Order: sequence, then C-alpha cells, then structure tokens
Amino acid sequence: MSFDVRTVKDLDEFSSAVFAIGQYFGMTPTEERMQAFLDQITAERMHAAWSDGSIVGGAGAFKFDLSVPGGDLATAGVSVVGVYPTHRRRGVLRALMRAQLDDAHERGEPLAALWASEETIYGRFGYGLAAFCGDINLAHEYTAFSQQFEPEGTIRFLEPEEAQKALPAVYERVRQQWAGMFSRSDLWWEHREIRDPEERREGAGPKRWVAYERDGTIDAYAVYRHKPGFEAGSTTAELRVVEALAATPTAERDLWGYLLSIDWKAAVRAFLLPPDHALFLLLATPRRLRYRMGDGLWVRLVDVGPALSGREYAGDGAVVFDVHDEFCPWNEGRWKLEGGEASRTDGEADIALSAQSLGSAYLGGVSFAALARTGRAEELTDGALMRADGLFRWDRHPWCPEIF
Ligand SMILES: CC(C)(COP(=O)(O)OP(=O)(O)OC[C@H]1O[C@@H](n2cnc3c(N)ncnc32)[C@H](O)[C@@H]1OP(=O)(O)O)[C@@H](O)C(=O)NCCC(=O)NCCS
Repeated sequence: MSFDVRTVKDLDEFSSAVFAIGQYFGMTPTEERMQAFLDQITAERMHAAWSDGSIVGGAGAFKFDLSVPGGDLATAGVSVVGVYPTHRRRGVLRALMRAQLDDAHERGEPLAALWASEETIYGRFGYGLAAFCGDINLAHEYTAFSQQFEPEGTIRFLEPEEAQKALPAVYERVRQQWAGMFSRSDLWWEHREIRDPEERREGAGPKRWVAYERDGTIDAYAVYRHKPGFEAGSTTAELRVVEALAATPTAERDLWGYLLSIDWKAAVRAFLLPPDHALFLLLATPRRLRYRMGDGLWVRLVDVGPALSGREYAGDGAVVFDVHDEFCPWNEGRWKLEGGEASRTDGEADIALSAQSLGSAYLGGVSFAALARTGRAEELTDGALMRADGLFRWDRHPWCPEIF
C-alpha cells in the first residue's frame, strides 16, 4: 500500500486527521470543537496520512515549552495520534512519526514528549518512559494528617473568569519547580482548563475553582468536581480533584488539608500524581491512598546536543554517552557531557545506550543504574552509572499533571 504524509491545509482535513484517533474515543467531531482544537494545534503542526485520496491517519504536535531540571525547552507536544482501523499495521504510524520528528528537528525543537495509549508503541521511535504517575482513591475516614497544623492561609472560591486571569501565574511558578510540566497558552487555559463541557464531566458536576492565598498572594489552587451518590441513605459521593498545584510546601499542605476535609463525601480521588507526592508524608495512613502507579510522560531527545545542554545538572563531573538512534540517525554516536554542555567527542564512551533510554533518564525520573539493571544501558567504564546518576538526579520526580 502506498500513502502520502503531509500537513493538513484546512478544517476539513484537520477534522478527518483528528478523527483517526477521535473515533476510538467515541468522539463526535463538531465544527466548533474542531475549530477550537485547530486553533490550538495549528494546521502546520498536524500531519495526516492519505491513501487513495482519503485520510487514514493523523498525528499532531502542540508547540509548547517543557520544564526540564533548571530550565525550559521548546518541545513538540505529540498528541492525537491515530490510524483508521481499516489501515492498521501497514506502516502509517511509522510514516507519521517520521514526518513529525523530522519536522521538530527542522524547527529546532530539542525535545518531543507524549502520553502513550499503550506502552508498547513509542519506544521504537526513541521515546522513553521518563516519569511515573498514579491515581489515589482515599476513603473519607482516612484523611487525617500525621501532624496537626493550623492552616496559614485562606481558601476562597473563584469564578471561572477570575481563575483564568489569576491562575496562569501560579501554574508558571509551580512549573519552574517541577520538570515535566508544559507551558499553557491563553488558548489552552480557555479551552482546556476553563471551559467545562458536559461531555468532559464523566458523570460528575461542574468544575469548582478555589485559590489558596497567603499574605495577599495566591500560592496554590485546586479544581475539583463533586460526584454525588447515595446508598442506603448515606453518601457514596466522590470528590474528584482535577488539579491541585501549590507553589510552596505550606500551600501544598494547606490546600490538601482543605480538599481532604470537605464534608459529605465517601472518598477523594485524584489522578496523575507523582510517586513522591507530598501526601505520602503528610497523611497519617498513606497506605490508604491505594496509589496505583503507571507510566506518565514519555520523552524523546529530538536533538541530543541541545537537549543535554538545555538542562541543569546536580554536579560537575563529565560523562561520555555512546548513543544509538536508528530512527533519528543525526543523534547517533558519542556525546560528552561536561560543565553542563554536550558536544561530539572521539573520546572513550562511559555508557552505551539507546535514544529511548536517554529519554527515560533525561528528566531525572529514571536512573541510569535502573536502566543498566534492566538491560537498557551498558556501563563501559567503572563507576560511570553512579557518576551519570549524580549529574542527572534532581530534587523531585518529574511531573506532568495533565494529559495533552
Ligand atoms: C497504535 C496505532 C497508531 C498504530 O498504527 P499502525 O499504522 O497500525 O502502526 P504501524 O503499522 O506504522 O506500526 C509501526 C510499528 O509499531 C508496532 N505497533 C503498532 N501499534 C502497536 C501496538 N498497539 N502495540 C504494539 N506495537 C504496535 C507495529 O507492529 C510496527 O512494529 P515494527 O516497527 O516492529 O514493524 C493504531 O493502531 C491506532 O490508531 N490505535 C488506536 C489509537 C491509539 O492507540 N493511538 C495512539 C494514541 S497515543
């Protein structure tokens, strides 16, 4: 079968390309929805695959910056990847990935990142599992904290319009602390955060916005939904936390203190929390969180040199990687990382690994030692894994709190 891949040129083509994945979500592609989505991705960043004059696959990439340890890098935020079931396993995805990564390379975006529908798909294209995350389902009777405290700030409700104005700055403050968070444009805030259509509520009520203020500054916010329920006259309601972000440790404690103490619910559920979330140490009975962990963000170094030079490191040592990258051969070969800068070298390699493994280690969420123990990296010089881990580790696990 032959097919062409190129970017879409209008709303019709965009809608067909998005429908390649949308159909698996049971999506009804209304014109209004597609237009809003087109505004966010833009036609020049949405690839489609054509066969016999019809679109049979699509792949888009948001343009955003991803926070990396000590910095922020232009990133292709890969999304809406799909192939029509009539054309599966004929190389359509491979062709879309080829076009998309070439595009990011030409644009000078050193990173690409995505959330995977299945863990088996993207490793072959050089994406590595870079962050873990998980859901909690905490019964109301186990919401006590291990240490008593008096909240140091106050919580108030925000109308959505006020949230849209006040909260992007808080989000940005949080993003500077956690690697793995993407920048949100005004359009993103409007369409993805503030708009709250019925079809996104999954049986729960509308979004409620609260801000946490201390000394006249908003240091944290939460957005949540009530999902009411009764059984035998008692509540089975859930409080579903859509997002709870805090720019200071005190704000984080007080914000979760508020969320967990809300009355008339049987449980609090929250999603996509990092494995080192503060709740594990704040709660008296963290086991009751029933944390279920899985893969979060997947990262691909589109250009190894600028990507490695674009983050900060925890130490001053040097390490030489021998990178194997079949899909993006411009990365292939030996790279020396020294003084925070990466450059080509003819020197002896310390660690041999694939681009996928380097993507896993990049944000500091997966250690080189763990990669080596699982056959995903090879230590060529004694002590190199420890040295590389000393450089790449950061003070917290990378966290992307939203699926894009
Ligand atoms: C996943 C999907 C995009 C694959 O598209 P496709 O055109 O069939 O994939 P290709 O034929 O280009 O396959 C490329 C490679 O990926 C492998 N592959 C594709 N889908 C896979 C899957 N779901 N699990 C494991 N391997 C998969 C193929 O076997 C092939 O392997 P190879 O390189 O070793 O030969 C398509 O099946 C689909 O749309 N699935 C439902 C929606 C979805 O999951 N989208 C991804 C959203 S993140």
